[in-house]
Parts: sequence; C-alpha cells; structure tokens
Amino acid sequence: RVAAVIKELEDRAATPIGKLRQVADAMTVEMHAGLASEGGSKLKMLISYVDNLPTGDEAGLFYALDLGGTNFRVLRVQLGGKEKRVVKQEFEEVSIPPHLMVGGSDELFDFIASALAKFVASEGDDFHLPVDRQRELGFTFSFPVRQTSIASGTLIKWTKGFNIDSTVGEDVVAELTRAMERQGLDMRVSALVNDTIGTLAGGRYYDRDVVAAVILGTGTNAAYVERANAIPKWHGLLPKSGEMVINMEWGNFRSSHLPITDYDRALDVESLNPGEQIFEKLISGMYLGEILRRVLLKLATETALFGDTVPPKLETPFILRTPAMSVMHHDNSPDLREVGNKLKELLGIPNTSLKTRKVVVQICDIIAKRGAHLAAAGIVGILKKIGRDAPPKDVSKLPRTAIAMDGGLYEHYTIFSDCLQSTLKEMLGPEASTAIVIKLANDGSGIGASLLAASHSQHLVLGE
Ligand code: BG6
Ligand code: GLC
Repeated sequence: RVAAVIKELEDRAATPIGKLRQVADAMTVEMHAGLASEGGSKLKMLISYVDNLPTGDEAGLFYALDLGGTNFRVLRVQLGGKEKRVVKQEFEEVSIPPHLMVGGSDELFDFIASALAKFVASEGDDFHLPVDRQRELGFTFSFPVRQTSIASGTLIKWTKGFNIDSTVGEDVVAELTRAMERQGLDMRVSALVNDTIGTLAGGRYYDRDVVAAVILGTGTNAAYVERANAIPKWHGLLPKSGEMVINMEWGNFRSSHLPITDYDRALDVESLNPGEQIFEKLISGMYLGEILRRVLLKLATETALFGDTVPPKLETPFILRTPAMSVMHHDNSPDLREVGNKLKELLGIPNTSLKTRKVVVQICDIIAKRGAHLAAAGIVGILKKIGRDAPPKDVSKLPRTAIAMDGGLYEHYTIFSDCLQSTLKEMLGPEASTAIVIKLANDGSGIGASLLAASHSQHLVLGE
C-alpha cells in the first residue's frame, strides 16, 4: 500500500525532460501574451519603471526597507561613487508578528515605519547626509504592484502568508509615507521595487552581464531586462536606454503542462489565495514542507505508516516547514537519525523504523526535485524569450549571461539548488549552459533598492 501511494505521487508529479520543455515553451508564450496587453495572461509582466540599472556612479546616504521575505529588513548604505563603491552598510532584521500579516493595513505599516524610525535614530558618524537634505528610501515590497511611476504603485493582491484586504488597490508608498509621518519620521520614498527588481539592480552593480533575477525563497518570482519596443502594452515614451525591466510575477504562471497532484489541489483550495500563484505553490519555500505534510498524512491515514493511529500534529497545516524538510532530505547518517529526530520533535512521532524514515526521504526527494525542475524550466523560458538559450552560429560569440539569484530556498536547500543547476545544463546543452552563470546575491535586493533610490533621488547625487 505504501508503495502504491508513492508510485502514484511519482507518476502525477513526474517532470521528464519533454514535459519541462513544454513548460519552458509555455512560459515564453505567456511572457509574450502578458507583454501584449493588460490581462493578456496569468503572467502579469509588470512594468517596473526601471529603465536604467545601476552604473556604479551612485553616491550618498540611502536607506532601504525590505518587506515580503521571511524577515523584514531595514538597511542603510553609504555609496561612494565609482571608485569607492559601497563605503559602509548596516542592516537590521525584524520578524513580522504573524497577526500583522492578516490584520489591518495601518497596523502593518505602523510597525514597519516604527522599526525604520528606530533604525534611523541609530545612524552613526560614518554616514553622511548633506545639511538640510531629506533622507531617501528605496522600498522593496515583494508583492505584485501595478506601478504608476518609479515611486508609486497600487497593490494588486497579497501573496505568500499576507492577507490584508484594506491594502489591496491602495498606493503602498502613500501607505508607508503616512505611517512614517505618524511616527514623526521625515523620509521620502524615491523608489518602489519588487525584490526581483532590487536583486537585478544589485546584481548588475557587481556584474555587468546580469540580465535577469530569480527569487526562490518563501515565494518565487523572476524579473529580466526587456527591449522597450517589445512591450506592446507600454504606451509611454520609449526610454533612452531602449530597455525596461519587467517583473514577471511568475509565481502566478499556470499551464496545462504543470504536473499537479491531488495534494497540490487540496493545498490550493485550503490556502489564503485559492486559484492563485499555482507555479509558486509547486516550487517555493512556503509550500514544499506543507505538500510533504499532506502526503505523510495520507500515508498515515491509509497505510498506517506511523502506526495504528494518525499522529494528531500531522493534521495541523504548515506544521512541517521547508527548512525541516531540507534537514531530513540532507540526512546522510546510516540510520537517518535526523529524520527520526524531526518526526519526533515536530510531529510527536516517537519511534520510527529505518524503513519509515526512508519513505519520508523519498517523498522529500520527489517534491523538492519537481520544484527545482520547474524553476529551471521557468529560467529556460526567460532565456528563450531573450534569445540566450542556444549558442549562436558562431559559438565563440556566445555572450556570457548572468542571473542574480536570492532566497532562502536556493541558498540553504542544497539538493534543490544542485538539481536546478543540473536541470538547466541538461535543458540548455553543454555549449549554452557554459555561458549561463547563476550568481547567489545574498540580500542583493536591499542594496539594489538603495541604488535605485540613489539614481531616482530628488537631488542630483551622481558623482558627488
Ligand atoms: C532577500 C531579499 O534577500 O530574499 C528579499 O532581500 C526577498 O526581498 C528574500 O524577499 C527572499 O527570501 P526569503 O527566503 O526570505 O523569502
Ligand atoms: C511572491 C510575490 C512576488 C515576489 C515573490 C518572491 O511571488 O508575489 O512579488 O517577488 O513572492 O519574494
């Protein structure tokens, strides 16, 4: 019976290379559709208003605030222009109390503005702001936003664990600005960016070949540099650079080629955002552990995997988080001791046999690798769209293409990241894949947001 349940999962979750190619092609097709018209696709392909990426000339003191990952962060950075680059940076991380993620808008924004105010108050002498100049902030807000300019935009919907009705449709910069005023903090938001855009900007600052950014963390998403004249839905002036950075919101990608199981369907129906973020729910850190829990619950109920009774804790949604799943999946000890420990610690299952522990690892493997395969297929979809997925006729002209990557899932879940890399190689072939580099940009998005705040500052700060 156990074998039958696993076999069924394996079949339904299978991602053979042919299927991954279909997913990559579907991604490219949806990218075109999302760029053609508003509402043309599940892929929103949001215009970021970033048409110039950092050059290295940025100078001055800038703040960044980053909301939407596991932790909320505040950061200050003293930029020293081309020669001196990042002179000094400091940051603080605060976790958002869960009740604020589903409460009222003012409460959430007051909380972050007050943390920011405290942080600003601790600014030391190493940071310099010319007299009478207002402090400026790059706001990384990692949710889908319809931008109306580089420093304004309305929230389309919440994703991940957030759900606050009163913010939807509101300008999040105005919300933050009002909260800062309530806190007596005098600061101007100069740039509003998604974390993918911040990561792309931060990545480009250190590596000129960065053309895309991918986040694999609590949620998942990607951004890339598009030709402005390849965006039919853009009716504004063509930017001088001829380029525009696009926030794909690929977490909401959907395709009949996606390998969706009954576990995924049930997870989606019972989630805060049913029917939304289907790609994200197959891939990202918020969901992998929860899929594992659902499979284990089925095995406990139907095959008595953990004995005659179903462990009550196994019925609690989100009790198994992806970091714990990762620990179990990476357990190399002969008796799978860590797996035993986690089952005991988190689910209250005291003694498990080696056979049972092996089953758990096998399920981790199926779920994590499906996610990594699909993320790789998504990346191939982007590379196809920008014509970097295959070597040109003259292989010596193969351009180096760098992708800035961030997020706890990619950073800490080694089996996941190794699998993503090897799948990319397999899909692209040996030549193209040697030109593609994935660069882990840890907290690139904070630096990126402050760089964009600098280049969109109300003051002329370049080359000061
Ligand atoms: C951080 C970025 O480094 O990675 C955030 O600065 C982003 O903006 C985050 O949301 C994603 O990681 P996680 O794993 O915390 O969701
Ligand atoms: C979710 C958000 C998206 C963000 C991603 C990664 O998908 O909708 O805006 O970039 O998570 O944090």
